[in-house]
Amino acid sequence: MNTRPFHEIPLVAPTEAMATNPARVMVERYAQHGPIFRTKTMLGNDLVYLVGPEANRFMLAGNRHKFSHRVGWGQLMGVIDVYGDGLLTMDGPRHDEHRRVMNPAFAISYMDRYLPLMHRIIRERTADWVARGEVDIYAEARKITFDVAAEALVGFRTGPEVDQFRELFFALLMLGEHVASEQEYFEGLAMLQAELHRLLLPKIQARRAHPTDDVLGLLVQARDEDGQALSDAQLIAHTNILLLAGHETSTSLSAWLLYLLVQHPAYLARVLAEQDALMRGSDADPRLEDIKRMKVLEYALSEAERMFPPVAEGPRGVVAPFEFGGYTVPAGVYAMYSIAASHMLPEVFAEPARFDPDRFAPPREEHKRTPYALVGFGGGPRICIGINFAQVEIKALVAYVLRHYRLEVAPVQQIMQVYRPTGSPLMGIRMRIAPC
Ligand code: HEM
Repeated sequence: MNTRPFHEIPLVAPTEAMATNPARVMVERYAQHGPIFRTKTMLGNDLVYLVGPEANRFMLAGNRHKFSHRVGWGQLMGVIDVYGDGLLTMDGPRHDEHRRVMNPAFAISYMDRYLPLMHRIIRERTADWVARGEVDIYAEARKITFDVAAEALVGFRTGPEVDQFRELFFALLMLGEHVASEQEYFEGLAMLQAELHRLLLPKIQARRAHPTDDVLGLLVQARDEDGQALSDAQLIAHTNILLLAGHETSTSLSAWLLYLLVQHPAYLARVLAEQDALMRGSDADPRLEDIKRMKVLEYALSEAERMFPPVAEGPRGVVAPFEFGGYTVPAGVYAMYSIAASHMLPEVFAEPARFDPDRFAPPREEHKRTPYALVGFGGGPRICIGINFAQVEIKALVAYVLRHYRLEVAPVQQIMQVYRPTGSPLMGIRMRIAPC
């Protein structure tokens, strides 16, 4: 079959609505143009969107070698300049080698090791909620998920130093929003990076001297074919990406999940009944086996992932020409798969705007009928390395909060999602807290 050239792919204009509702924008364009359309980046470069489960499979599995993370995440999204070259921005055999080193620390069986510290941090960080009466669960979740990532992945113990790391990361993430000029941005960036290095380098050097079995420990002990250890710059980049990816996305997803459950009392009652049945009124911390059995909660987590995916799209650079949807796409352009749109296609998810966690339960299992339809954690060989970690942590956090506190959405607040760059509640989510 003859394919049509790149310039005949429907051209759409960039729109600011992508920041607040990428799913709506993308689904409308998909309905109008089909699964492939193109636009221009702010710098005038060509960017092609491939939308829908088939497009996801194409980019994440079958044809993934034609797409570069380094060009997409690293260059287009600027991740390398800010955080260094970590797992997210690496390509090819070098990526696979580094991922192999880290993989053991992310296996589901390894989560047993992290659960006690997750429980401890969750308990400590929520202990004053009732006394405070009202909290922003988004800001609170960030403290918890950052403490957990810092201790579990790189062995930094909760305290003022970890608070300082968290604030630095947040400042880096939000830097673009608070500066008036490019010069101010680069000066701010250099200052924050220098501060981060000052804090991280001694930790890395200490870990070289006394390796442990957390991810940073595995990385300092790794050797390449020539027996070379990773450089300080490489270790800093991996640590940065793990700390950033390891908390930012879990923060918003936990907050949205709590919000959705509080908004849907009938489903919340089922989550609580499941907790009662599993924990039999005991205040003991759930074991990994218990967490795995929390299916009613798990379906709600998948529904929150579907409705409020923290990552809206996966950026790539096209490094080899390909054909998709009747068109030829040349090497050298940018490409995106759309997570947000895949989750809102009515032919895949019935009544997609409705909160309906049972869509993930047997016999419906809507996500299994169409492979690569639910892609909140990406998919294929480069699926999020932290998927087990995030799911266990979010379930532990939300289960604990619901078992110990009664939450009510505080009045007079506008709750809206904005992608900056991950999908978070713009003004937070304030909840009134009472003991159970
Ligand atoms: C709710 C929580 C999370 C969400 C929604 C999420 C989402 C994602 C997505 C969509 C990707 C793939 C991006 C692409 O295809 O371009 C990804 C990759 C990645 N994630 Fe996560 N993530 C989460 C939690 C975590 C955690 C807890 C960690 C680390 C502890 C982590 C570390 C990473 C890393 C290192 C990659 C790159 C993997 C590779 O390319 O080999 N993420 N994540």
